[in-house]
Parts: sequence; structure tokens; C-alpha cells
Amino acid sequence: SILQYQNIIVSRPTPAVALVTLNRPKVLNALSAALIDELVSALSLLDTDDTTRAIVITGNERAFAAGADIKEMKDKTYVDVFKHKFLENWTLISHVRKPVIAAVSGYALGGGCEIAMACDIVLASPTAVFGLPEIDIGVIPGAGGTQRLVRAIGKSRAMELILSGRRFSATDAAAWGVVSRVSEDVFADAIELATTIAGKGTIAVQAAKEAINVAFETSLDEGLRHERTIFYGLFATQDQKEGMSAFAEKRPPVWSHS
Ligand code: HXC
Repeated sequence: SILQYQNIIVSRPTPAVALVTLNRPKVLNALSAALIDELVSALSLLDTDDTTRAIVITGNERAFAAGADIKEMKDKTYVDVFKHKFLENWTLISHVRKPVIAAVSGYALGGGCEIAMACDIVLASPTAVFGLPEIDIGVIPGAGGTQRLVRAIGKSRAMELILSGRRFSATDAAAWGVVSRVSEDVFADAIELATTIAGKGTIAVQAAKEAINVAFETSLDEGLRHERTIFYGLFATQDQKEGMSAFAEKRPPVWSHS
């Protein structure tokens, strides 16, 4: 472990990849406030750490995370959640600049599904079970579920799933685009993908992520303008000179990530 926490484990499976493992296995990785604080803090440290160029978030075979910690949440009042901005820090997960891959095995329910959807790429094992069952405990998804699921799979399907609380399989998630693919060895494949991405020039990777994310927030015309501005900016980097020279000289590029 490269950073010390109580509810997560941070390790480095390959030199430029950080692996964050949600680690409350007895409660299927129920997302307590303490766990989320640690997750947000670890992601923020890894985001500014120069050796880390890609991040994988995972759980264990049985559960990615079975949602927010219901026992911790159940006695909260409106005043509690309002005053303390309950769930607001969850949004920091999607503010990470570096690529974040979720490797989902087992349950990804409620807040667990929402964390996965806040990641840039989701890989699912054949056993993965997704769902937003908040309706069954008298609330609604509160960490991006109603917004990100609609964007991922469209209104009718999102309505059906959120209003019924029905779970969906890895196969459905892949067919609908919630996950990029189903993978037999999801943990190894996520690390392999992260390692591949970590081998690219890190500024270009982060620029591409930013440009793609703009597509969710703006019109096509604005998005195209934004893309071009980011593209132009890359001509100020060493990696653009290196990448294009290497191609012309028929040799592999050596990225300086600058
Ligand atoms: C607290 C949880 C939990 C959760 C599981 N556990 N999910 N504790 N919060 N979300 C605990 C159980 O209480 C139990 O503890 C232990 O984990 C094992 O779970 P079991 O239920 O015994 O396992 P199983 O019978 O296999 O059922 C698995 C399950 C079920 C189907 C995933 O645990 C379940 O329905 N969990 C809740 C799923 C859910 O509603 N998630 C959405 C939460 S709301 P003990 O001590 O009894 O052994 C949410 C919205 C928040 O996330 C808003 C945005 C963040």
C-alpha cells in the first residue's frame, strides 16, 4: 500500500498505475462517509502525483459497492443532510483529471453504480450486477444516478430502471453502453488497460478526457470549438514535437509528459 487508509487500499500494480480498492468487504463495500472521504482524498493526492498516470477503482469479487451505507444514513434529518452538504463531496470523484477506470465485479448498486458511472471507463465482469434501487428505501439516486444514467442509456430505460429499482446485468450494461465491455478477468484487464493508457503522453490523455467530458455539457458547436482550442494547446507541448518527429523518423516516441 502506498498511502495508508482504513476503508480503502491504495497500491501500485504497475509503475504508473494506482489501484484503489474499496475495502469494507463484510458490508459489501457499503459507502460510509469515512470511506468516501478517504476515496476523495486519495484521488486528489494521486491526481497531483507525477508518477501516477492512470487510476483503477475496484472492489472485490462479490461487490464493487452495494451502495451508500444505509445504516449510517437512516437517521439523518433534512437539516443534517442540507447543513452538511451530504453527498456533495462525491462529485469530486469526477473532477480528477487523470483517467479513472472502474473494474466492477459483483454488486454495483445505488452509490456503487453511481461511482462506477462517475469513472471514465467501466469494465464489468460477467457477474457484475448494476442497479439504482434507491426507490426501495424511499429516496432517489443522489450521487449522479438520475443524470448520468439518462445520458448513458436514454430516458425510457433510465426511467424504467430508476422507478422500478430493477437490477441489470453486465450484458445489459455493455449493450446499453453503461460499461465499455464485459471482461472475464476484469481486475487484470482494467490494470492492463490503465497501463496502456499510462504509456501515452499524459498531457494528451488528460486533454482528450477533458474534451470528451465537454460533450456531455454543451452544444456540438461549443464542443467542437472547445476541442479545437485544446487541440491547438497541445502544440505547445514537448510530447507533440516528440510524437510527430518519432512518426516521421519511424521510431517509437519517448514521452517526457511535458
Ligand atoms: C449498509 C449494507 C449495505 C448498504 C449491504 N450491507 N449493503 N450495509 N449499507 N448499502 C450489509 C448488510 O447489512 C449485511 O450486513 C452485509 O452487508 C451483507 O449483506 P447481505 O444483505 O447479508 O447480503 P446478501 O443477502 O447477499 O444481499 C446482497 C444485497 C443486499 C442484495 C446487495 O445487501 C442489499 O440489497 N443491499 C442494499 C442495496 C441498496 O439498496 N443499495 C442502495 C443504497 S442507497 P450484516 O451486518 O447484516 O451482516 C444509495 C443511495 C445513496 O446508495 C444516494 C447516493 C449515494
